[in-house]
Amino acid sequence: MRACIFDLDGVLVDTAKYHFIAWRNLASKLGVEFSEHDNEQLKGLSRDASLDYILNKGNIVATDVQREQWKEEKNNEYLALVLQMNENETLPNAKELLKELKSNNVKIALGSASKNAELILDRVNIKHYFDAIIDGTKTSRSKPDPEVFLLGAKALNCEPHECIVFEDALNGVKAAKSGGFYAIGIGEPEVLFEADKVYASLASVNFKMLELLS
Ligand code: BG6
Ligand code: MG
Repeated sequence: MRACIFDLDGVLVDTAKYHFIAWRNLASKLGVEFSEHDNEQLKGLSRDASLDYILNKGNIVATDVQREQWKEEKNNEYLALVLQMNENETLPNAKELLKELKSNNVKIALGSASKNAELILDRVNIKHYFDAIIDGTKTSRSKPDPEVFLLGAKALNCEPHECIVFEDALNGVKAAKSGGFYAIGIGEPEVLFEADKVYASLASVNFKMLELLS
């Protein structure tokens, strides 16, 4: 293992709850029901693909102008919540693991679909751990396409088989596996069944055990 590539939302920070509030409010305005189950399906998907999901569910045909307006509305509400985040809102052991990897010379990249990733890394003060940041502003294909992780590996000068990807979404695990990466799922084994290993959270992960995996 030469490098680790981390998804952001749901792995390092618990922002899924904020995405849920903002998408649910937009969906409700459009007359579409939006449950926790729906939110689970959106994990790892781009903002565009997430809006598509809601519009499809409600059989809504939208113009480009409406789409842009709704995405902006959702994002403004999401940002208002994210801007209230503080340094303590990283998930358990996230900071400690990043620190441990850094001190053992493991390269670290972010591989996130979010266009707000840098802002969030700043809010919770972990940006300095990353040697490369690949986010939704740098990719053109949504997970499960492996693009985001392949760009991450390239930016770190590593081959996919030298990198471990951490993902909380099945779409993200699929992206990692199809790109040739070792995939660690963070969440439930029933959901992330395609991952090489699944842990409930980063709290059960440390450098030594990662070294033994590869
Ligand atoms: C992913 C989240 O990390 O980023 C998705 O899991 C989200 O739920 C996507 O839709 C895009 O995020 P943003 O911040 O660009 O709207
Ligand atoms: Mg995620």
